[in-house]
Amino acid sequence: MRLLWCLLKSVPVVNILKEVDFYSRFSPSPLSMKQFLDFGSVNACERTSFIFLRQELPVRLANIMKEINLLPDNLLKTPSVQLVQSWYVQSLQEILEFKDKSSDDAEAIHSFTDTVITIRNRHNDVIPTLAQGVIEYKDSFGVDPVTSQNVQYFLDRFYMSRISIRMLLNQHSLLFGGEVKVNPAHPKQIGSIDPNCNVVEVIKDGYENARRLCDLYYLCSPELELTEVNAKSAGQSIQVVYVPSHLYHMVFELFKNAMRATMEFHADKCVYPPIQVLVSLGIEDLTVKISDRGGGVPLRKIDRLFNYMYSTAPRPHVETSRAAPLAGFGYGLPISRLYAQYFQGDLKLYSLEGYGTDAAIYIKALSTDSIERLPVYNKSAWRHYKSSHEADDWCVPSSEPKDMTTYRSV
Ligand SMILES: Nc1ncnc2c1ncn2[C@@H]1O[C@H](COP(=O)(O)OP(=O)(O)O)[C@@H](O)[C@H]1O
Ligand SMILES: [Mg+2]
Repeated sequence: MRLLWCLLKSVPVVNILKEVDFYSRFSPSPLSMKQFLDFGSVNACERTSFIFLRQELPVRLANIMKEINLLPDNLLKTPSVQLVQSWYVQSLQEILEFKDKSSDDAEAIHSFTDTVITIRNRHNDVIPTLAQGVIEYKDSFGVDPVTSQNVQYFLDRFYMSRISIRMLLNQHSLLFGGEVKVNPAHPKQIGSIDPNCNVVEVIKDGYENARRLCDLYYLCSPELELTEVNAKSAGQSIQVVYVPSHLYHMVFELFKNAMRATMEFHADKCVYPPIQVLVSLGIEDLTVKISDRGGGVPLRKIDRLFNYMYSTAPRPHVETSRAAPLAGFGYGLPISRLYAQYFQGDLKLYSLEGYGTDAAIYIKALSTDSIERLPVYNKSAWRHYKSSHEADDWCVPSSEPKDMTTYRSV
């Protein structure tokens, strides 16, 4: 909290610190897909959403603000991290202004919705800004394994918290922020949720947009071969209650990776094997498998690909990050995995080095199983940052073979 003191000299710092302490003692309340739909159905009630959000948003913000303060000092001091931190403080303050307002005060409810929109826009650039902080830190101080592990642990939780907060902000502003409750571009959606999300349509959309980037960089791109297996209702198109923009984000990232690998691995042959996609709907899981023949990755490196500090692509400039390069920050896989995990799914990579990679997205087939997965600040989380990392309890293989002649049998 030290830095917050310096950062916010002009505001009543003590108060906001107290509020952070207070709200961080509550655990966030995960919502199910059904609850999100109920909030936005015919009986959508701005007042109910207002009462819920003015408590829940401070809880989610405060929980993650506590963790920001546990980052290594030198990372915390970077201008980028301070900027992100100041956005969080300001947004928390703005919501707390509604704490004592009557829930029958129509004007307050209306102005709360405006505040929600302002906050959502303020936080648009959190990911590239924080990425810049991590780069600055890495360049100045290098990274030891303990710091790298802590930063990885933090960013996974921080970005998951951000996805969840944005989901709440988006639902409220889409449902109550406009003149009409129905989004003209997506009339069937409830806020950002499509109760009948057509999975194949989203996949094709992601493929086409990734392909456009690929054509720009490589002047060519691999074809798509798509197979749909609906084991629940044979012959029918696969639909799920889901946030299409989340699914789009994941498949777009996976397509960009698959295309880059394919184009590079087959560069000399100028013939590019297609990307094969299999969508399968079972009782529990909806799975999207994206397979490329881009030469794969050795098993030893697979975990590393989900590391926020890892990319094999040249680093793009932060200012141009909005221009959507084909690859660069190394955030494609870790953030996509968070989107999958957010509603209790997952994202896994299976690679055959020398041949290609299968990337699988798992989504819960039943909306009753799709419940937010949220980080909570507690003793266990705190211990993660503070515990000294002990020696490995597996032998480290030595590159020097042991001289067996010195070992005598007894
Ligand atoms: N399908 C794939 N085949 C081969 N390598 C891959 C594949 N997907 C990801 N990678 C490797 O993983 C790294 C990290 O991917 P990602 O998180 O999307 O970040 P970026 O694409 O920005 O580098 C890539 O730089 C690439 O080296
Ligand atoms: Mg990528």
